[in-house]
Amino acid sequence: MAKQPLVVGHRGWLAKYPENTLVSLRAALDLGVDALEFDLHLSRDGHVVVVHDATLERTTDGTGRVSDHTLSELRRLDAGGWRGREFRGERIPTLEEVLALAPPGVLLYAEVKDCRPAMAETLVPLVAPLGEAVVVHSFEADFLEGFRRAAPAVRTGLLGNVKKLDMLAEGRRLGCWGIHPCMEGLTPEMVAAWQAEGFTVMAWAVRDEADARRGIELAPFALGADCPDVLLRLLGRD
Ligand code: G3P
Ligand code: CA
Repeated sequence: MAKQPLVVGHRGWLAKYPENTLVSLRAALDLGVDALEFDLHLSRDGHVVVVHDATLERTTDGTGRVSDHTLSELRRLDAGGWRGREFRGERIPTLEEVLALAPPGVLLYAEVKDCRPAMAETLVPLVAPLGEAVVVHSFEADFLEGFRRAAPAVRTGLLGNVKKLDMLAEGRRLGCWGIHPCMEGLTPEMVAAWQAEGFTVMAWAVRDEADARRGIELAPFALGADCPDVLLRLLGRD
């Protein structure tokens, strides 16, 4: 029988909580996920913060670009109320807070969304001490190339869509540890071939039970899920 995939809480427990907040990430950990995935931007004064969009409107009560605000301005925003009154008061976390939250043994997939050179400079000293506990992944090949030069020992992963990119060739070229495709167009044969070559595959994102069934059949090393509860149940781990 194929080894079960690691269950990755996508932005924490996205289906139930305000994504990328401590309450969401903590809820996924309490549920028993093996890994967390979250997104990184840089504040105007050079702090790494955990938020998905480049702009604040969708997931906070602020406006404008994340990168135009200082950390203290970002910390005053409400990052939970948009998802429900009970989440009011949740803040945009810093990367340091998220790193402190995860217990040993939980793998952290940190996605770089703001790919300016200052991000790599700031990120390396924060994640390098974590060793194999963290994977820095991105859709941006140029970022991954520069990051790998700056921190060759840190694991990296290439995000993408197999319909738009030869992910194996790109993963080889960039010296990535992981290939991280969305599930669209992905086949079990691709996953098996890449993993036989030594890449770890993290497929995403499981949004419902049908996705979870298909994701399990793909047999990747790890499976990102908006609804990690559904995935854990299908794997017999609830
Ligand atoms: O885990 C990969 C996935 O998070 C990439 O897409 O937009 O959800 O960050 P997105
Ligand atoms: Ca992400």
